[in-house]
Amino acid sequence: FLADRLGKPLLVEGPAGVGKTELAKAVAQVAGARLVRLQCYEGVDESRALYEWNHAKQLLRISAGRDETWDEARTDIFSEEFLLPRPLLTAIRGDDPKVLLIDETDKADVEVEGLLLEVLSDFQVTVPELGTVTASRRPFVVLTSNATRELSEALRRRCLFLHIGFPDAELERRIVRLKVPGIDAALAASVVRVVGALRAMDLRKAPSVAE
Ligand SMILES: Nc1ncnc2c1ncn2[C@@H]1O[C@H](COP(=O)(O)OP(=O)(O)OP(=O)(O)O)[C@@H](O)[C@H]1O
Ligand SMILES: [Mg+2]
Repeated sequence: FLADRLGKPLLVEGPAGVGKTELAKAVAQVAGARLVRLQCYEGVDESRALYEWNHAKQLLRISAGRDETWDEARTDIFSEEFLLPRPLLTAIRGDDPKVLLIDETDKADVEVEGLLLEVLSDFQVTVPELGTVTASRRPFVVLTSNATRELSEALRRRCLFLHIGFPDAELERRIVRLKVPGIDAALAASVVRVVGALRAMDLRKAPSVAE
């Protein structure tokens, strides 16, 4: 509610498989918004996160117009038609409602955080050849993290923080019954009880809601 009203990104942390990613999908579904997802991984960079030029198409365009001067060709190949928008740019363009999911933010390299900061504070992106794109309608932003590393102070400060832990038994029964329609109530309850007991044991990994 606050993230929506304040227009602030929501940073969701918690153990694996408790519904962090699911939360963004649910918000998109309830709001009738399009989900735009940036999956973070080690090595994700500007060309994967923001935009990239379609080099193959640019080359084809250049060889198709052999008699043109360089100036003519240049202005043409750096136009909208040759741009490949990636999730961050996609999320701030257009007027339709969107939910931007920046998933597993902690897996990305620290440099990507600089990029996120820029986009999440101003909701604008500058493509040198085309100019600055400013969001006419801000997306609802959800960042998720398993806290394998601390995100930078600057990024955390711009977000509202939500921790999702393991649900209590009553909530978990409701989740199971939602995800397995028609399941016998007694069976759902005993599954939840067994999983709860496993979580209390000293295991290398506690079973998640997903499991
Ligand atoms: N709180 C929940 N409410 C509803 N469904 C849930 C919940 N938690 C988990 N699930 C179910 O488990 C699946 C996996 O959850 P999800 O991918 O959202 O976990 P996650 O927290 O993003 O995990 P990870 O950190 O591994 O990415 C979901 O697709 C959903 O079916
Ligand atoms: Mg996830």
